[in-house]
Amino acid sequence: MKQIAQYQGKLLNHLEALYRPGERDLAIELAEALGCAISDTGFKGDGVDTFLAVHPNPDDRNGQNNVFYMSQVRPEQLALEDRLRRLSADSDFAADLDAYREAARTKPFGVPHFSLRYPSGQAVEEVAERINGGLKQKLQERLHLRIFRPGDGDAAVGNLIQGFLYQDVIVSGSFLMGQLIELQTQP
Ligand SMILES: [Fe+2]
Repeated sequence: MKQIAQYQGKLLNHLEALYRPGERDLAIELAEALGCAISDTGFKGDGVDTFLAVHPNPDDRNGQNNVFYMSQVRPEQLALEDRLRRLSADSDFAADLDAYREAARTKPFGVPHFSLRYPSGQAVEEVAERINGGLKQKLQERLHLRIFRPGDGDAAVGNLIQGFLYQDVIVSGSFLMGQLIELQTQP
């Protein structure tokens, strides 16, 4: 298989994601359940810990391309998230948040997400088994995996298995709003 470094054109090269304080190991566990390999970049920047590189293709651990990074959320975002969480005690806010989360779990196609490509539907089913095993027991309501299979009435693409994982362990945005990760196969 060609390595990503051999591709010379422009591409979407990385995504910056975060985990909560104390959840570095959990983020690693989830990324590995997704079938990714992790390497430590050794880069700390302004963070408290090093950035981890997550490689969707374990056979090609290019540190700059086809990768997403994970590091601990910064204090500025944590302060904002804490403030929003306190506000969410308000019943109108809570209702809106519940509605958003329900949409993310059930109607993911218009909800912000990033997507990982898998070689087959079987590979997506294997991820589902890992996610729905020990991780689901550990994370419970923080983890929702919806698999669209051929023949499902609301599937976007009729002949593909497509998964949407909604969770708040690894986010490239708000922990409060959570992060959808798509698991996509291609014909
Ligand atoms: Fe998508």
